Amino acid sequence: MKASTPLTKNIGPENIAATIEQYQANGGYAGLKKALSTMQPNDVVETVQAANLRGRGGAGFNTGLKWSFVPRGEGSPATKYLVCNADEMEPGTFKDRLLMERDPHQLIEGMIISAYGIEAVRAYIFIRGEYHLAADRLEHAIEEAYEHGYLGHNICGTKFSLDLYVHRSAGNYICGEETALLNALEGKRANPRAKPPFPQVSGLWGKPTVVNNVETLCNISHIIANGPEWYRGLGKGADAGTKLFGVSGRVKNPGTWELPMGTSIREIIELHAGGMQDGYKLKAFLPGGGSTDFLGPEHLDLPMDYDAIGKAGSRMGTGTMIILDDKTCPIGMVRNLMRFFAKESCGFCTPCRDGLPWVEKILTDIEQGKGSVRELDQLAQQVWNMRPGNTFCALAPGAAEPLQSALKMFRKEFLDHIERGCCPYEAAETRFVG
Ligand code: NAI
Repeated sequence: MKASTPLTKNIGPENIAATIEQYQANGGYAGLKKALSTMQPNDVVETVQAANLRGRGGAGFNTGLKWSFVPRGEGSPATKYLVCNADEMEPGTFKDRLLMERDPHQLIEGMIISAYGIEAVRAYIFIRGEYHLAADRLEHAIEEAYEHGYLGHNICGTKFSLDLYVHRSAGNYICGEETALLNALEGKRANPRAKPPFPQVSGLWGKPTVVNNVETLCNISHIIANGPEWYRGLGKGADAGTKLFGVSGRVKNPGTWELPMGTSIREIIELHAGGMQDGYKLKAFLPGGGSTDFLGPEHLDLPMDYDAIGKAGSRMGTGTMIILDDKTCPIGMVRNLMRFFAKESCGFCTPCRDGLPWVEKILTDIEQGKGSVRELDQLAQQVWNMRPGNTFCALAPGAAEPLQSALKMFRKEFLDHIERGCCPYEAAETRFVG
């Protein structure tokens, strides 16, 4: 095992964890056996908390702390649920898919240990509808886990029992918002719920529920098997562990790589992604998916960790960067993102339902040279309307992030379009087609 890349140690050119035998031969299910034979459920929660694992879905909330909010002991509900959020739909993000397609047992083992820790009786993997291959492989791996006594009644001969199901989403970005996801799982329309109460207290069918991202749960077996100090030591800086970072855009080698938390942005873009394609320069980038603020070349030496990216005015989000090059129209890029968010809004809150299509229309006009300076103020007003706290969920505030930073960073480009009455980025191949 390459100690520095626990999450992808089974993922190579060959699919070496395709069967449960291969997974076990490479150390798989050792973490589960250790947890069940030597640890009480609360020990698992404390170990994960001590590891300082932060949620890999995008928000970076401390996983062990989240689990600690689940009521336990006398008087607490007997039924608790664990839900894996596998509805990976953040623009530019393709990390969870890799983990599920190439090493499904790693996620399953992580979920069984997590369910043991929070004392859940049932677990669900809520998976993006288009992820057919991942869902098929997970279903097959779950069958194998039942056959080997890792799921079902009296797991590994203990009193702990768990059932695990794959639920394929009917499709929509909003289904990945944890409370909308719970509504969808209950068969209802996927509108977000008000928080608090947080799902840990009142989630699926009103019962305590933990919702964790795929990558987050994949870390659990390694933390249990190797201990929290080992895990914290994997990070280069303030944040613990490794992370699947990714890059898309006009780089030579787009992809996703497991690297220490705190790896510099420059190393990710220039070394792992191979740098910019010949003839293109890096103009700006979104550090963690489509709902983060743009950063510029001056930020290349920042470490990819939650606080460092936060202090620079953006968020690490999913850790998968989208590169904007010097030949692509930034207004077109932002318009393309806004089109996505407008289409995916559940329509529940007015700033999101009405604001996002309006933003898309203004950006389309500006991109086509039909905009006015007054409309820049209207865009800024929409950013204000979509601020956190003004909507039920993070969709509109997330969509506002690339927009608000574009308005600041690309003001000259906006004015250029307006003054010239056309898009200065004329070559068709450099446009974002919505
Ligand atoms: P959030 O910050 O509201 O919550 C994050 C997690 O921490 C949730 O599970 C929540 O229950 C828990 N939490 C937060 N505050 C808490 C408190 N005071 N008490 C108890 N628990 C608490 O963020 P949210 O809305 O869940 O997620 C937004 C993020 O999701 C964005 O950062 C975005 O980057 C990411 N995202 C990722 C997608 C993907 O495909 N991976 C898709 C869409 C968004």
